[in-house]
Amino acid sequence: MHKRNSLFYIVALACLFMISVGACRNGTPKTIVPGIVWYDTDGNPINAHGGGIMYHDGVYYWYGEYKGDSTYYRDDICVGWRAEAGGVSCYSSTDLVSWKFEGVVLPPDTQDAQSDLHPSQIIERPKVIYNDKTKKFVMWVHIDSPNYEKAHTGVAVGDSPTGRFTYLGSFKPNGGDSRDQTVFKDDDGRAYHIHSSEWNKTLYIGLLNDDYTQHTGIYTRNFIEQYREAPAVFKHDGKYYLISSGCTGWDPNTAQCAVADSMLGEWKVIGNPCIGKDAEKTYYAQSTFVLPVGGKDGQIVAMFDRWNKTDLDDSRYVWLPLTFVDGKPVIEWKDQWNLEE
Ligand code: DGJ
Repeated sequence: MHKRNSLFYIVALACLFMISVGACRNGTPKTIVPGIVWYDTDGNPINAHGGGIMYHDGVYYWYGEYKGDSTYYRDDICVGWRAEAGGVSCYSSTDLVSWKFEGVVLPPDTQDAQSDLHPSQIIERPKVIYNDKTKKFVMWVHIDSPNYEKAHTGVAVGDSPTGRFTYLGSFKPNGGDSRDQTVFKDDDGRAYHIHSSEWNKTLYIGLLNDDYTQHTGIYTRNFIEQYREAPAVFKHDGKYYLISSGCTGWDPNTAQCAVADSMLGEWKVIGNPCIGKDAEKTYYAQSTFVLPVGGKDGQIVAMFDRWNKTDLDDSRYVWLPLTFVDGKPVIEWKDQWNLEE
C-alpha cells in the first residue's frame, strides 16, 4: 500500500472512531411514541393503566392497574365495560423508555370473594410515595365494588419499591367518597390525597399524617359540583398545578388545568393545557400523572391513558412533554419525541 493511501485509511478510521464516541456520548435517543403498544424488556405489552411514577434513588418505578385480558360488559353499571382487577403492577426503568416488569406488587386475592382485592372488584389508579421517616413505600389506590358504589380508598405499604406491598384495608377518607385519585408528596415532606368525592361532583384534597397511611382530618372541597376526575398534580416554580378530566366514563373529554399557591387550594382554573389537533378530546386520552423528570423541576412529562373500553387491557399510554408558555402549562401532540439527556 502506498504511503498516501495508508494515511487516508488512518484518517478515515480516526474519523469513524470520533463519530461513534460522539454518538455514545450523546446517547441513543430516548424516543417516546404516544399511543403505540409499549413493550417491556421481556417483550410483553406493559400492563400498568391509570398509573403513576415514583422516582427513587435514580430509578423510576411505574405502578398501574394490571388489567385482566378479557373485557366484558355489565349493564348494571353506568360505565358498562370492565376487565378483572389483576392487582397493581410495577415496572422499573432508568431512562423512562425501557421498562422491566417487576411483577404484580399488590396481587389480587383470588380466594376471598369478599376481599377488596378480589378480581371481581375495582382496583384503579394506584400511586406510590416514599416516606423518608418510616422508610416505607406507601401506595394509595381506588378500591370499589363492581358497580362503583362503594367508593373507597385503599392503602398498602412496602419495604421495597418492588414490593410486595401489604394491604392495610380501605375506607372513606373524611367520611367522603373516594374514586379517581392520586397522591402528592411536597418538598417539605407533607403528602396529600386528592380524590373525586360526593359522587364525583367535588374533588377533595386531604393532608396525610406523618407516615402517609391515614388522613389527618384537614381537607378542602375543591371544584365544587364541577365533576372533575383523573387528577394529576405537580409543582413548578413554587406553584401547584392540577390537571383533571370531566366525567364521561371511559370516553375522552376536555382536560382542565388549575393553579394554586397551596395544595389545599384555593384553585384557579386556567383552561385546557392541551393545544392543537384533538386537544378538545385530550388526544383521545385521560390524565393520570405528571412526572418531573429526575425528580427535579425541569423537564416535565404528562401521562395519559387512551382507554380502549371494549378491550381494556389494550388501552394505550399517551405520554407528552409539558412545557410552560406565558406562565401556563402547555401540552401538544407529538407523533414521537425524545427525552432530553
Ligand atoms: C373514568 C375513570 O377516570 C377511570 O379511572 C375509570 O374509573 C373509568 N371512569 C370507568 O369508566
